[in-house]
Amino acid sequence: MTYSHVLGTGAYTPSRILTNHDLERIIDTSSDWIVERTGIRERRIAADHEATSDMAAEAARRALLMAQTEPAALDMIIVGTISPDMPMPSCAVLVQAKLGATRAFAFDLSAACAGSLYALSIADQFIRSGSAKRVLVIGAEILSRVVDWSDRSSCILFGDGAGALLLGPTPDPSRGLLCAHLHSDGGGAGLLSIPGGGSRHPPSPEVLAKNMHKIAMNGREVYKFALRVLPEALLESLAAHGLKPGAIDHVISHQANARIVESVVQRLGIAREKCWLNIERYGNTSSASLPISLDEANRAGKLKKGDLIAMMAIGAGMAWGSALLRW
Ligand code: UT7
Repeated sequence: MTYSHVLGTGAYTPSRILTNHDLERIIDTSSDWIVERTGIRERRIAADHEATSDMAAEAARRALLMAQTEPAALDMIIVGTISPDMPMPSCAVLVQAKLGATRAFAFDLSAACAGSLYALSIADQFIRSGSAKRVLVIGAEILSRVVDWSDRSSCILFGDGAGALLLGPTPDPSRGLLCAHLHSDGGGAGLLSIPGGGSRHPPSPEVLAKNMHKIAMNGREVYKFALRVLPEALLESLAAHGLKPGAIDHVISHQANARIVESVVQRLGIAREKCWLNIERYGNTSSASLPISLDEANRAGKLKKGDLIAMMAIGAGMAWGSALLRW
């Protein structure tokens, strides 16, 4: 039997910083409100010349370097993103070309903030079946270009960034991805969306005038939804391996709002110190937040061989899930 484990991690965040105090000058908000409701103090904003594939490729290079793997060794590249360079071709093929990963097939995955968790699970299936040996899983977003900067209830949340994981096979069943459980509920599609710019409302002067090409969110409902499903999702993965929350060494989660992560772990009796929280510095980077967090924890030397890492993510769809990774 073959299992998949993480061979390398990488992240890239743009250098430009937008603080809460900067936002106070653009919209009717206060830094104290943002910190108290979300835990965010600042977020990164891509430079004008940067596109999502540029950031994704840079995060990928760093993961490949860590794993001392050449791009030509890659079999497959998945990019979780809702802010690709363009509707087609995929961001993933642009990354493939930038890396020179000539053997790899590449595609994007649309599961919003759960994108990299979904991608991780798909990569795992290909590796377990023997169809692929080296797979790049990337989450990359330039949300600053799809955020409605006149909507204070959503624009304060989001930021730009990219994270990457390189997965490869191991014969050791006690290492790597133990399981992933994915869920969707399209009944919640209206809670968080970019309603315009697709086939339902193609680009038009009206779509632009009504800001329909920007993120529209019912934050309070998304918040309630997340608190309802995320604890269940984590327990589902733990139960699949006969484990209890006390077995978890680290929680590496999508960071939509610090309060969501803190409430979930509190409900399950997991110590807050086990969560890698960086939302204070990056805001919600959607699909990028989970791989950025894993990379930061990894490079900080926090992850020890044998540690149990619990992952969870939730985003537009609604789409959510959990996974367990034995480091
Ligand atoms: O990755 C998944 C994507 N999204 C999420 O996970 C979002 C989840 N939801 C959230 O994080 C929170 O709902 C928000 C941070 C978006 C909002 O926090 P909240 O505690 O749910 O606030 P609220 O929407 O219930 O609004 C409370 C008040 C309202 O004023 P009134 O009606 O009570 O007078 C808002 O108008 O706060 C007001 N408000 C603001 N005030 C200052 C909303 N946004 C702001 C703001 N600054 N930026």
